[in-house]
Amino acid sequence: AAAPVHGEKKVLLAAPRGYCAGVDRAVIAVEKALEHYGPPIYVRKQIVHNRHVVETLEERGAIFVEETDEVPEGSLLVFSAHGVSPAVVQSAKDRDLETIDATCPLVTKVHREAVRFAKNGYRILLIGHEGHEEVEGTYGEAPEVTTIVNGPEEVADLVVPEHEKLIWLSQTTLSVDETLETVRLLRERFPHLENPPSDDICYATSNRQHAIKKVAPQADLVLVVGSTNSSNSVRLVEVALEYGAKNAKLVDFAREVDEAWFEGVATVGVSSGASVPEVLVQEVLRLLADYGYGEIEEIVTAEEDIIFSLPKELRPILRAHG
Ligand code: F3S
Repeated sequence: AAAPVHGEKKVLLAAPRGYCAGVDRAVIAVEKALEHYGPPIYVRKQIVHNRHVVETLEERGAIFVEETDEVPEGSLLVFSAHGVSPAVVQSAKDRDLETIDATCPLVTKVHREAVRFAKNGYRILLIGHEGHEEVEGTYGEAPEVTTIVNGPEEVADLVVPEHEKLIWLSQTTLSVDETLETVRLLRERFPHLENPPSDDICYATSNRQHAIKKVAPQADLVLVVGSTNSSNSVRLVEVALEYGAKNAKLVDFAREVDEAWFEGVATVGVSSGASVPEVLVQEVLRLLADYGYGEIEEIVTAEEDIIFSLPKELRPILRAHG
């Protein structure tokens, strides 16, 4: 028999959650390209890190590839929201590919900073997860002067070539708290380290973390809807645990939720990563209602009204078709 539950069963639903402006724009870009040009439309890497989104676009005729050399010459290729290095842009040109750049404007901003600081003689410490597509792209803007720092635990043994001017930049989807800690440790080692002009961690990442911090202390279990390769979704699970959630799990779909997680659970916190469509959250909420967690209280910590205009390559066809 399940352990007794103390207190009323209920759901605390974090807001903001789910789609950010950069993901929304990237997904619409692929949809518009499919509508206008018809399949196949090639996409380099997952357009956004969400299984459901990728599978849905695949059904409609998008073909996801790892690299430009898999795309037939002369085809149309979309670059994902995470951005690409100049080398990738060049390899697409060399293959005579038409491209649509769905890089989030907030990632492009970090690329521009990397270019500018490199030109002005800086050494760049790029805080981010080595191997993540966004970090590969940003690093590729100035590889000869950039050093990747994965997190606070790497600072002590970090080897940084000779430098006079030093600046840090970061991936957009990191933990806000952990990044502050990394910067603090970096500054202890390199007192002349300069700050970037504005935050690189994006509004969507910090808003979602802020909301889950309010939910977590009251939650016996937090469910984050998101994919395992989604950096900002994985961070939400970590932040929930740091802020007092007794348990926290990442699920792509409601069907992955395990009944055993609910033993003794009164309050369930729910959120979703920036690449997650709201329908997936609603499916989880329906399942929770079946388990007796039908009462939902939304915890709202910010309102978001940011919208990005579509990639410029799409504007002519949008003008033609409305
Ligand atoms: Fe852009 Fe942030 Fe979303 S960088 S794609 S707005 S998570």
